Amino acid sequence: MMQEKFVIQGLEGKRILTGTIKINGSKNDAVQAIAASFLFRERLTLTNLPPIDDVDKMLTLVEQLGSQIIRGKCEVQINPPSNLSRVTLDMKLAKKIRASILFTGPLLARYHAITFPHPGGCVIGERPIDLFLSGFQMMGARVTESDQNYTIEAPTGLTGAEIFFRNVSVTATETFIFAAILARGTTILKNCALEPEIMNLGHFLISAGAKIDGLGTPTLTIEGGGLLNGAPRAYSILPDRIEAGSFLILGALAGKKITVTDCEPAHLTSLIHHLKLAGGTIKIDGPSVTVSNFDHQPFKNFNLTTHEYPGFPTDLQAPLAVLLTQAAGRSAIFETIFSGRLLYLETLNRMGAQTTILNPHEALVSGPTPLKGKEMESPDLRAGLAYVLAGIIAKGETIVHNIHYIDRGYERIDERLRPLGLAIKRC
Ligand code: EPZ
Repeated sequence: MMQEKFVIQGLEGKRILTGTIKINGSKNDAVQAIAASFLFRERLTLTNLPPIDDVDKMLTLVEQLGSQIIRGKCEVQINPPSNLSRVTLDMKLAKKIRASILFTGPLLARYHAITFPHPGGCVIGERPIDLFLSGFQMMGARVTESDQNYTIEAPTGLTGAEIFFRNVSVTATETFIFAAILARGTTILKNCALEPEIMNLGHFLISAGAKIDGLGTPTLTIEGGGLLNGAPRAYSILPDRIEAGSFLILGALAGKKITVTDCEPAHLTSLIHHLKLAGGTIKIDGPSVTVSNFDHQPFKNFNLTTHEYPGFPTDLQAPLAVLLTQAAGRSAIFETIFSGRLLYLETLNRMGAQTTILNPHEALVSGPTPLKGKEMESPDLRAGLAYVLAGIIAKGETIVHNIHYIDRGYERIDERLRPLGLAIKRC
């Protein structure tokens, strides 16, 4: 398929976008819930499913493994196969998406063997999987590495263990919750991630019979109990807090008054705090958040440090950096989670921003600097969104290539932003 691109006519700093944008279900909640379908004896129904490419990829992987899928636009019913001898993930497809690693826990625990490639996904620095390999070995599995893939086998199933994650890892926490539910005995997971998606799915799994203690704390104790019965009701995917945050930043950058609806403001505390630092008005009303009164020039500057939840999310670092290019004075960015998530600043410099990357984790931004429209290639999902935001506030036309990265996590943003008054087209 011809590579699509976005063509954006910049607003040259004018804040004229007005209206409402509905937030979709969370990409990162959806992918873990799809992997969790293998924990169930029979069907699992997911609602508020975001219609995005990463969900399509994960459902294709599940179908290839033998699950029956009944799919609507924003909902799916997944019926896992009762038995599988060998489980091999489609190498080409699984390589394209980091979330494919989430299958290792349930599939190894249920079918006792899995072969998979090193998972791909956004190139945002080192994406090791040592926590997964060492964790499965502690649960009694044997790991064999070849140059292309890994095979993990546990002929008699997994045994509960005490596992300490040396790095707080979202997908490792999720994967070992799933593995522990089907393992023999007790598993204790220490230094777990605290993302709201983990708590949300964890409570749902408990309602389906899982025995999980400690949700919402860094230490989880899980009693293995075998397959979960038919889920008592559908699992409703949480609103996407990263999508909501991205559009709130847009509201601050170019909005007269923008409201995001169907979101969960409680999951946006850190972002809302930072937008208030920049100097605008944020109004929360139930599941809606309205951004306005940022029409003074320029924003107040501030230092930004990313941190595991509930700290400032690394997935919003690039979008908020665009706002820092329009803030008066010097701001520092500390990207504490990934080592390759600052390179997009070089492209913003080509548009007229003044940023300096000091090392793989730190950068400085001086502003305010007017931006000029440019042609650029989106390197990953969140930097791609940042380029769209930069193009929106720039003078002149911006062309963003490789927008398939953006489609991975945001449903057709061109069609959703045009009604706000933005001249953006996909071609
Ligand atoms: C999840 O990635 C999200 N993806 C990412 O969102 C998000 O940026 C990230 O968490 C951090 O919040 C999904 O949930 C599908 P990590 P994940 O394991 O789980 C190190 C997006 O744009 N680590 O939490 O892959 C790792 O190098 C994506 O939606 C190990 O050392 O990230 C990093 O420094 C991008 N060994 C830290 O942990 C391992 O085995 C946190 O990474 C695994 C991870």
